[in-house]
Amino acid sequence: MQRDDYEVVASWFTDEEEFIRVFANAFTYPLNRAQFEGFFLIDPQPRPSRRCFRATLDGRTVGIISYNRIDWRNNNGHLGFIAVDPALRARGIGTQMISGALAIGFADYGLHRIDLYVYSFNQGAIKYYEGLGFRSEGVTRGISRIGDRYLDWIPMSLLKHEWTHRHLKQHTANNGVHGRLASSPP
Ligand SMILES: CC(C)(COP(=O)(O)OP(=O)(O)OC[C@H]1O[C@@H](n2cnc3c(N)ncnc32)[C@H](O)[C@@H]1OP(=O)(O)O)[C@@H](O)C(=O)NCCC(=O)NCCS
Repeated sequence: MQRDDYEVVASWFTDEEEFIRVFANAFTYPLNRAQFEGFFLIDPQPRPSRRCFRATLDGRTVGIISYNRIDWRNNNGHLGFIAVDPALRARGIGTQMISGALAIGFADYGLHRIDLYVYSFNQGAIKYYEGLGFRSEGVTRGISRIGDRYLDWIPMSLLKHEWTHRHLKQHTANNGVHGRLASSPP
C-alpha cells in the first residue's frame, strides 16, 4: 500500500465489518483520504518503523500489506493492513504477498519475530495464517467495536527459526523457485 493507492484501496471496502478486518482500530470507517495519507507521514527515525508494500498485477495494485511497527531494538515486526482485491481472492495472490513480506522481514530486515492480529470471527484467515506457520498467542478481548458489538482479536506470531525451517522445506520442494514481493518504503 502506497500513498497513491487511496482510490483503489477505498473501492475495496463497502462494508464496515470487511473494513475492520483489515484496518482494525487504526482507521475509522469509511476510509477517507486524510487518515489514509496521514499514515504515510515521514518517520523521523534513522530506520523507519513502518514499511508498506503493494502487490501488483499488470501495474495495478491488487494487494496490500505493511509492517505497521518495527521494533528494531528487539527485532520484532508487526504486520497489518493485509488485503487482496475482493475480485481476485483465492488465486494465490495473498500467499505470495505474505510469503514475500515474511522473507523481507526475516531475511532482509533480520527480524526475530513477526506478529499480527486477526479477529476471532475471521476464522478463514486464522486457518490461513496457521497454514503459513503462525501460532495463536491467546485472545485480546473486546478490543474493537462495531455498533454495540465488541470484538476479540487473536494475536498470532511466527519466529525466525520456525519460518526458516518451513521456508527451507518449501524451497527444496519447489526446486528453488519461489516468489519475492516487489517493495518500496512509504
Ligand atoms: C486473507 C487474504 C489476504 C488472503 O488472500 P488470497 O489472495 O485470497 O489468498 P490465497 O489465494 O493465497 O489463499 C487463499 C486460501 O486461504 C483461504 N482463506 C483466506 N482467507 C480466508 C477467509 N477470510 N475466509 C475463508 N478462507 C480464507 C482460502 O479459502 C484459500 O484456501 P485454499 O488455498 O485452500 O483454497 C484475502 O482473503 C483477504 O483480503 N481477505 C479479507 C481481508 C482479511 O481478512 N484480511 C486479514 C486481516 S488479518
